[in-house]
Amino acid sequence: TRRITVHDIAAAKARGEKWPMLTAYDAMTASVFDEAGIPVLLVGDSMGNCHLGYETTVPVTLDEITMLSAAVVRGTSRALVVADLPFGSYQEGPVQALRTAMRLVKDAGVGAVKLEGGERSHEQIRLLVDSGIPVMGHIGLTPQSVNTLGYRVQGRGDEAAHQLLRDAKAVQDAGAFAIVLELIPGELATEVTRSLHIPTVGIGAGVDCDAQVLVYTDMVGLTPGRTPRFTKQYMNLRESLGNAAKAFAGEVVGGAFPAEEHTFH
Ligand code: KIV
Ligand code: NA
Repeated sequence: TRRITVHDIAAAKARGEKWPMLTAYDAMTASVFDEAGIPVLLVGDSMGNCHLGYETTVPVTLDEITMLSAAVVRGTSRALVVADLPFGSYQEGPVQALRTAMRLVKDAGVGAVKLEGGERSHEQIRLLVDSGIPVMGHIGLTPQSVNTLGYRVQGRGDEAAHQLLRDAKAVQDAGAFAIVLELIPGELATEVTRSLHIPTVGIGAGVDCDAQVLVYTDMVGLTPGRTPRFTKQYMNLRESLGNAAKAFAGEVVGGAFPAEEHTFH
């Protein structure tokens, strides 16, 4: 088997096929999703919230993303692995972005990178693509800008909608192979999807996007507390893990574990 490439992604769009993307942050979880046939795995900077215990994605470092990306690459054989460029690792300009992306490609072995921003990130995307690194764009709600945007629906109102369309075009024109649309009205996502030839990957962006992405900890019900309305929980892993831990604890305290079959003589 060979890895999925950006050419396979373009071919899926040409055939009108929708595809799923999930985040992954470790080798074992990634191997489960790879075996389940998920074609694209994102080592998102959502690892900040999910795996590293930060409140936002803002503090996530390049060392952290590189280490977990390498684990996801090692755990998979088929999926295209895409790594997020963390906050502060590409905003200074195209050369900084290239240095960051090169580290992820060479040290972690990812097949593509993702960075936030439309028109403002155009030059960064262009240099990476010209240098041979496939880029996924990300517009709408861009969590690295939480301190200016907050966490609310983007692209509402004529002016914001037009800017979002310009941002989408800028990402495509810079050479990106796909673009994430996060938390925008479904109608606007439909319009963006119709106006681009590269696939749109929706999260809180309605049903008409070419692909859909979920943060896997939301998807499996591991995320504590309330999750946003646009996510969907396909199982309650938090409850299952908690029950397994309680069962283990009870058997240790009660002397039922280890049993004879777990014991060497
Ligand atoms: O970091 C992340 O998980 C993401 C997806 C939500 C697109 O950027
Ligand atoms: Na992200």
